[in-house]
Amino acid sequence: MSGDNIQHNIQKARELIAGAANICVLTGAGISQESGVPTFRGEDGLWRQYRAEELATPEAFYKDPKLVWEWYDSRREIISKAKPNPAHYALAELEEKTPAFSLITQNIDGLHRLAGSKNIVEIHGNIWQTRCTLTGVVEENHDVPLKELPPKCAETGELARPNVVWFGEMIPAAVIDQCLNFIESCELMLIIGTSALVQPAASMGVAAKQRGKPVIELNLDPTPNTGFYDISLQGKAGEILPQIV
Ligand code: OAD
Repeated sequence: MSGDNIQHNIQKARELIAGAANICVLTGAGISQESGVPTFRGEDGLWRQYRAEELATPEAFYKDPKLVWEWYDSRREIISKAKPNPAHYALAELEEKTPAFSLITQNIDGLHRLAGSKNIVEIHGNIWQTRCTLTGVVEENHDVPLKELPPKCAETGELARPNVVWFGEMIPAAVIDQCLNFIESCELMLIIGTSALVQPAASMGVAAKQRGKPVIELNLDPTPNTGFYDISLQGKAGEILPQIV
């Protein structure tokens, strides 16, 4: 994309955002990349010799809970040192000045909340919570490193798992309904830093388009959905987002 084109698209995006009274944002790992949190599918996405798809599954967890927890422990250590970047702050600011605003994130790092965003739905859960494999009780746990691997539920003494959604697991229906409500009611959707390869998030922008909403995508690389959207901004979220909100 030429420099002129980028500037033209930035200007168009700025106008659409400024004119919308109800904005729905969807974010993925790319928005936290500039905070030092590795993305899943980028070159830095490998942990030891494993890919996320091999570890973020119930099968991997029940086969070797310690290995999967070691991966989460190392991610928790990285995330504990990460601070929100200008893209996270730009969204918090946008929420302040937009009459209705919702933020759907696939990220489990909690950085949106740290930046001040409020109306957030974390569709893949949160890395700072554990869940009892017996009772489903969720506990906050901010220990870095974890005191025992794998951790146990404080109430039952049973194996605890990260309170996140893994491949092969369903996002709770109520959470999906909430996302659909956000998409139905918004006037504009903004999608940032996601490869659009994991469902159902990958279909949310398409769902917005089918409902006649303009969609802006901001991503370092093109995605399989780029062609469906009204505006595609290719670049770093932390550099471009503050220019358009
Ligand atoms: P991916 O790692 O699949 O994609 C990140 C996207 O962000 C890529 O398309 C990059 O081009 C882009 N990107 C990287 N740096 C960027 C930057 N500074 N600014 C803007 N864009 C940037 O991450 P997700 O799409 O979030 O799920 O992955 C979706 C899900 O797959 C995750 O939530 C996780 C993962 O496996 C589960 O664990 C269930």
